[in-house]
Amino acid sequence: MAQTTASNVPIHPLDPPSAAEVERATALIKETMGKSWGERAGFCSVALVEPAKAALKSFAAGESPGRQLRFLGYDYPVDDPDGGFDATVDLTSGEVAMSRIAKGQAPIGGADVFNAIRIAKQDSGWQAAMRRRGIEDFEHVQIDPWPASGYPHPSIPRGHRAHRCISFVREDKTDNGYARPVQGLIAHVDLTAGRVAHLEDHGDVPLPPESGRYDAASQPRLREGPKPLSITQPEGISFTVDGNAVAWQNWEFRVSLHPINGLVLHQLGYRDAGELRPILHRAALSEMIVPYGDTDPMHRWKHVLDAGEASIGNCANSLMLGCDCLGEIRYLDHVAVKPDGTARLVKNAICIHEEDRGILWKHHDGHSQTTEVRRSRRLVVSSFHTVGNYEYGFYWHLYLDGSIEMEVKLTGIVGVSAVLDGEERAEFAPLVAPNLASPVHQHLFCFRLDFDLDGETNSVYEAETEAVPAGESNPDGTAFRIRSRLLASEKQAMRNVDAARSRCWKVVNPERRNRLGNPVGYRLLPGATPALLAEASSKVAARAAFARHNLWVTPYRPDEICAAGDHPNLNPGGDGLPAWTTGDRSVEATDIVLWHTVGSTHLPRPEDWPVMPVETCGFLLQPVGFFDRNPALDLPPH
Ligand code: CO
Repeated sequence: MAQTTASNVPIHPLDPPSAAEVERATALIKETMGKSWGERAGFCSVALVEPAKAALKSFAAGESPGRQLRFLGYDYPVDDPDGGFDATVDLTSGEVAMSRIAKGQAPIGGADVFNAIRIAKQDSGWQAAMRRRGIEDFEHVQIDPWPASGYPHPSIPRGHRAHRCISFVREDKTDNGYARPVQGLIAHVDLTAGRVAHLEDHGDVPLPPESGRYDAASQPRLREGPKPLSITQPEGISFTVDGNAVAWQNWEFRVSLHPINGLVLHQLGYRDAGELRPILHRAALSEMIVPYGDTDPMHRWKHVLDAGEASIGNCANSLMLGCDCLGEIRYLDHVAVKPDGTARLVKNAICIHEEDRGILWKHHDGHSQTTEVRRSRRLVVSSFHTVGNYEYGFYWHLYLDGSIEMEVKLTGIVGVSAVLDGEERAEFAPLVAPNLASPVHQHLFCFRLDFDLDGETNSVYEAETEAVPAGESNPDGTAFRIRSRLLASEKQAMRNVDAARSRCWKVVNPERRNRLGNPVGYRLLPGATPALLAEASSKVAARAAFARHNLWVTPYRPDEICAAGDHPNLNPGGDGLPAWTTGDRSVEATDIVLWHTVGSTHLPRPEDWPVMPVETCGFLLQPVGFFDRNPALDLPPH
């Protein structure tokens, strides 16, 4: 049932890197680096260098696709530590273009995490601080190495790789360590120097009393569950998967997994009366930020860029039929790179299936006593990623009426603090269990939406409603109207949601009109979403400036992909959107990219403990005059 692309020979320029390509490229990089590829060197990620739009458009099936892969990695140069390497390998010519990362660092790799844990556990100061807290059995201590943010401890020199390590105590290997956080202790690990550079110790708080096990065997009793629900498609699925190309009910697109951007839809178009009309050239997560609002020294520095720092795409789960996905599923695999340059295969990383979605449209006509009703169905393209204590699911939904939806699912285990009786600081960290508090925080996801709406000449308008003052033309005072204005430049297009005004943003192609004479359009309907709450002067606001506005618009540039820049790990900030938009470029009647930040401000509840029921956020893209009428009128009745 599963389709495997891993070992296939790429035939399209957007086909993801194959295992053979990855291994050939890493061999070429090692050869180029010669002696500087030492024992401590490692690869963090590999991504296809997606050809620029013009090249993609002129590609014809059967041609040999040009292939370039880009690798990020580290090699710990001895005398002059820097951010590691950023290398592009041309697989046709065998050429390696290598640059050193001057600002920021290559992302966190598996070896970093392993080494940070080892270094912290071996540190005599850390051991003494644990013993003082009555913790002697270090084997069952779980250490979570957090990114050191853009400002590692001052005792760690610039150019060194670094982590902040916090600890949890497990009863045994299978326990949920988050139930028992070691309060007050942070080990600042200098990975480059291989030592704990500074031990931050704010004093002892006893471990919370209760276990936080969430597996079925640990529950006092299990309810009688619902009866089995089988989803079968006796005549088969109604979509096709050809390599990474997918087609379903007029929709056509390609899909891939990118190490930073996760699940990517490429070249999404809708076949309308025989014509394939492009909508989105590329749509994916660009970057994300999880900032904590608690003033507690255990949490106030926490803000993780899980896409660029942790390579969220490479944290993709191997999905399980019947658990993660229900029904008739087609899977695609993902190829990542191991630190040593060999390929790592994630089986079943992308799940594609159809879902019934209730009613699409309906009317009962009382005069004729007739009812017309059509059922809604959606194509779901999804992946799920584990990043430390959290899980993130990304779900692209394509609908029969031309709507496109992104739904992010958040689950996993919340961050925690141990607190003394009566010392709960509920405004910053509500209690979720006895002596266990969970800090307030946000999850903000910036999606990059590269529109090609019926071509590359696109503009974006902000539309919202406004009440009309009562007067001669509005005698009943009931009037309200649509106000629409062009967002002509990058600075004009830095916008935030306003639900009270039904604010939305509409992408149009001024060169193509619908039958009513208006430009064809698609609108971005934001959900009930916050933006970054931290102060503009804060370090997190500098590192994740993208999250300060729900909308940014930029002209398309092939190298402007990651909203916080290409090397956000240990980067003090300023890269990406804030840097690109300083020139206030025009975004009118040109090839434009929308950057939409959505998310949730998470105020933890007892019900979020010990594992959090899925919470969602997302957005909807709806055709507005893209079609001449309801495009699903032609859907046959069941
Ligand atoms: Co949360």
